[in-house]
Amino acid sequence: MTVSPPHSAEPVTPASLAAMKAGGQPIACLTAYEASFARLMDRAMTDLILVGDSLGTVVQGHDSTVPVAVDDIVYHCRCVKRGIERAFLMADMPLAGLGSHAQALHNARRIMREGGAAMVKIETDENGIGTIRMLHENSVPVCAHIGLLPQKEYHRGRLTMRGKTPEAAAALLQHARQCVAHGAGLLLVEYIAFELARRITREVPVPVIGIGSGPHCDGQILVMHDIIGASKQRPKFAHDFLHDARSLEEAFGAYVAAVKAGRFPAHEGC
Ligand code: KIV
Repeated sequence: MTVSPPHSAEPVTPASLAAMKAGGQPIACLTAYEASFARLMDRAMTDLILVGDSLGTVVQGHDSTVPVAVDDIVYHCRCVKRGIERAFLMADMPLAGLGSHAQALHNARRIMREGGAAMVKIETDENGIGTIRMLHENSVPVCAHIGLLPQKEYHRGRLTMRGKTPEAAAALLQHARQCVAHGAGLLLVEYIAFELARRITREVPVPVIGIGSGPHCDGQILVMHDIIGASKQRPKFAHDFLHDARSLEEAFGAYVAAVKAGRFPAHEGC
């Protein structure tokens, strides 16, 4: 059966995200943490909304995502869920929710059942493949977040682009393949070399969403605060879409339109 990309208010599903990849239609994604902003994003036709553990920094005011609790994600996910009708809802597994496989499964189920998320995102290096496999085998839809991993690396200070040497690129490509082979239904690639992001996007059969990883991914995601001038320090790969807009909804719409038209992100970079 052929699934068409979503139109108007049709809810976005894993099948329609896959159809967008197949049809070369860029997937526009944003983070949200509560109902009102999520409603505006939904009206602006954002395809995927992530309740990111960036809530630790942009909402709770911490220096990293590490203090975020599973209860926090569940609470914010429920808030966002009430604001959306169309967007696909994904939520982060915070560092505190991992541990044993039994704990990870328990917490992933809470995020889905209590929070209403349709997919759980896990930051993972090669050591996390077992968790992805275990969640997949237990019917939890998983997004593997690879490349720069804020849960492990924010406290280390300077954040550097991943996959820039041939060896590092080969290792990340292999990791991406492994994540998909073990059940990841989506990949999120954070701050990796643009050519590597292009290669991963071409090779893996699942949608690849990029952040700071160049224009060649199937979709793009940004932290909401970074596109409305509300973050402490905007990363250089983000853009303030509120600057030229008359309202938040228009700013979200401008972001979605720029992603869909291939105008964001710009092509220069690594
Ligand atoms: O927590 C978050 O906001 C993220 C970003 C990559 C979007 O994971």
